[in-house]
Formats: sequence, structure tokens, C-alpha cells
Amino acid sequence: MALSKLNKKTKTKRIFENFKKYEYKRNAQKELCYIMIKPEIACSQNKVWDIISMLKQKGLKIEYQSTEFLDTEIVKEHYKHLNDKPFFKGLVDYMTSDLVVKLIVSGKNAVKIVRDLCGPTNPANAPEGTIRKKYGKDIQMNAIHASATIEEAKSETRLHINKNTINKLRKKGFEL
Ligand code: CMP
Repeated sequence: MALSKLNKKTKTKRIFENFKKYEYKRNAQKELCYIMIKPEIACSQNKVWDIISMLKQKGLKIEYQSTEFLDTEIVKEHYKHLNDKPFFKGLVDYMTSDLVVKLIVSGKNAVKIVRDLCGPTNPANAPEGTIRKKYGKDIQMNAIHASATIEEAKSETRLHINKNTINKLRKKGFEL
């Protein structure tokens, strides 16, 4: 009796370990994309849920979600490639004005899928079916930010996400 219980435990442990190995291998083939739902949208639960369901409908998996205030210095670092633009200060003020929803999604070609779903920076040019067409107000308040490349997704994730979460994602097989 005791022995069969032990065998059951060992078997369950082995199944779990095999699943972890399988999950690790599968995740190693996937991309991550870092996303921020911007302040004017992040405060509406319905809009956040809608955006998340649009992402899921594209076959993407939510690996991380958190609603937070952004730190000014982190936002300046995030948008440092724009620091000579006349709209830089307004952009930093806007991104730190209220809560944002940070998301990390995974999937094959995640970056391209997310960028296509977001639409162009200016909502005025965004086609039907895109997040910016649906929720963007203007070129600054354009509802959502998403990494433009795989490398950017990695560096933005490392900039915005705590070390513990990064380590957990690495353990799950994601390259970061
Ligand atoms: P995002 O995808 O987060 O990347 C850079 C951000 O800068 C962009 O979305 C907009 O919020 C903002 N932005 C880009 N161009 C302009 C502009 N001409 N005026 C104001 N904000 C802009």
C-alpha cells in the first residue's frame, strides 16, 4: 500500500517534470512582445478586457499582466530615442499621468502579430479591426505601445519588469 502510494507520487512527479521540459522546449521557439495599455484606456476594465481578448483571439498567450504607475526615469529611458522631439516632455508627462497595464504576450511571430493588431502610430491612419482604430484618440494618446522588434521586446521587458518575473520567464524557456 505504502509502496503503491510512493509509486504514484514518483509517477506524478515524473509527468510534471516531463511537462515542464516540453513546455520549456515549446517556449524556446516562441517570441515575447512587451505591451503597455496607455493611461486613458488602462483605467477602463472593459477596454482592457477587450484588448486582451483581441490579443488572445490572435493565438497569443498572456505571460504577465500588471497595472502600475510608471516611474518618470524609466519612461525617459524607454523613449530615449525620441528625446530630441518636441513632443518628448508631453509624452513622458502623459505616460506617467495615470495607471498603465503592462503585458507580456508570447507566441510564434508575436511581435509582428501584435504590431499588426495595434495598427499605425497615428490612429487617424489605422485600419478597421485594429486596437488604435478602436481606442486611439490622437497620435500621442494612441491607446497602446508594443515593441517593434524581438530585440526591443527583450530590452523593454528587462527595463520594465521585475527580476523575479524575468527569472520565472527564463525558467519557462523564454529567451530574455
Ligand atoms: P508608441 O508606440 O508608444 O511609441 C512612441 C510614442 O510617441 C507613440 O506611441 C506616441 O504615443 C508618441 N508620438 C509619436 N509621434 C508623436 C507626435 N508627432 N506627437 C505626439 N506624440 C507622438
